[in-house]
Amino acid sequence: MVAMPSEYLALDPEVERFLSNEHNLYINGEWIPAQSGKTFTTLDPSTGSHLADVAEGDQVDVDCAVTAARKAFDAGPWRNKLTAAERSKLIWRLADLIEERAEVLAQLDSLDNGKPFTTTRDVDVPYSAEHFRYYAGWPTKIEGATVPVSAPGMFNYTVREPIGVCGLIVPWNYPLLMAAWKIAPALAAGNCIILKPAEQTPLSALYLAQLFEEAGFPPGVFNVVPGFGEIAGAALVEHPCVDKVGFTGSVEVARQIVRSSADTLKRISLELGGKSPNIVFADADLDNAIVGATWAVFGNNGQSCTAGSRLYVERPVFDRVVEGMADQARKIDVGPGMRINQPQLGPVVSQEQLDRIMGYVRSGINDGGTAVAGGQRMGGDLSAGYFVEPTIFVDISDEMRIAKEEIFGPVVCAMPFDDPNDVLERANRSEYGLAAGFWTQDLQKAHRLAGALQAGTVWINTWGCTDAASPFGGYKQSGHGREMGKEAIDLYTEVKSIWIDTGTR
Ligand code: NAI
Ligand code: MG
Repeated sequence: MVAMPSEYLALDPEVERFLSNEHNLYINGEWIPAQSGKTFTTLDPSTGSHLADVAEGDQVDVDCAVTAARKAFDAGPWRNKLTAAERSKLIWRLADLIEERAEVLAQLDSLDNGKPFTTTRDVDVPYSAEHFRYYAGWPTKIEGATVPVSAPGMFNYTVREPIGVCGLIVPWNYPLLMAAWKIAPALAAGNCIILKPAEQTPLSALYLAQLFEEAGFPPGVFNVVPGFGEIAGAALVEHPCVDKVGFTGSVEVARQIVRSSADTLKRISLELGGKSPNIVFADADLDNAIVGATWAVFGNNGQSCTAGSRLYVERPVFDRVVEGMADQARKIDVGPGMRINQPQLGPVVSQEQLDRIMGYVRSGINDGGTAVAGGQRMGGDLSAGYFVEPTIFVDISDEMRIAKEEIFGPVVCAMPFDDPNDVLERANRSEYGLAAGFWTQDLQKAHRLAGALQAGTVWINTWGCTDAASPFGGYKQSGHGREMGKEAIDLYTEVKSIWIDTGTR
């Protein structure tokens, strides 16, 4: 029996079973301990207490997994025997299994990350299943072209081929979903995979590996090596037989990945952070904008790469919008993600993340900002966990650290503006460019701004929508490449141009 606080939802028997088992690496279709014998602990961020010990992969284990994936790619049935339709069927079957075990995956992500179970059950897990379904349709549709070249007598066509062995490194903010975003297109394109989940949230990735096994994927197509970023993650990036690295996480680590991939020049795609501007115009439907702007930043506790963390409000409605948001922020029910009476937000993921966020809050206050809502770590019953009050800052200028740097927590900087051209320039004055959004009822303004904002995604009178079919990624230092949609198929394939002399000239 796994002991949980009495206020928690009852664990699904399958979660009980899973938690009390060993958590080994999944390599070549087998569950094996790390060769060093080492394990690391993953915690419940709502209480700071032990959740599970997980095998800690290092260079040796990564090498094993890469060898397995290489062999599966070069010589296994995945690429050499299965038809595109058969690969589709396997991916679709995986989506079925994710749906069948939705409760289990949702409880595991809620326990490991801290977010509410209703969020993982209603958002993270169904979106993950949908993602696999969308890409299950792709294997039979990845086409090349016949190219009307001008070289006399020559026939030219292109084919799209899988890149090979993909090392996929994912973060802890949406453990299952971020893995799905990468795994699904990589599989659809015919690659073999080593997944390195975040050290804070390794559990759903291991459960997913079980589902791969049940679905009947050939061994070596999908491997999971949990472990620390600077060891297991770095080993994947440096490994000469890894052809491609797909990464979601911090800009600092992305820079390291780009540097250490220089020796092998492997393919890299990066989905990084943001400091996304959210602009409320006076002509907006303000009630809608107030709710939208509140959840644009506090959704997932601000631990979203697209958090609307720079809020620009047209001066005549500034006080009304900020007061409306502050009123809502104070009422947000924050508590353990597995609490029977479900909260709206859970804790942040770790002590480290809590310290970072509180450091930013202090820097905001030291620089002259005022917290009109929140600003404190939460105490009382919640003092053992990593709980932060949803926080709204005013008296902020664009140059302050909290207005420029990604906080990745429930903290928003609200700043007034007078001139629409000026606010556009301020919105774009960021090294990031992942997402941007605004609220207005003026159609001309909407189209003008949508074109002028430097961001991979623009939301108008809404925030946060993503879909497996729509490309997602960053301008500037928010990343390289686009995930989702057909763009992700490009990200996981190489194009080959083939010439034949037809002898007709
Ligand atoms: P991180 O970038 O260190 O971790 C993300 C993933 O990269 C994890 O799986 C980690 O193990 C791995 N990793 C770490 N160092 C690595 C290395 N040297 N080589 C290869 N892989 C490595 O992010 P962290 O420390 O968890 O969070 C720090 C900040 O990063 C957050 O406060 C936030 O600003 C940003 N972040 C952004 C995310 C996004 O969705 N864009 C997700 C997570 C963090
Ligand atoms: Mg954890």
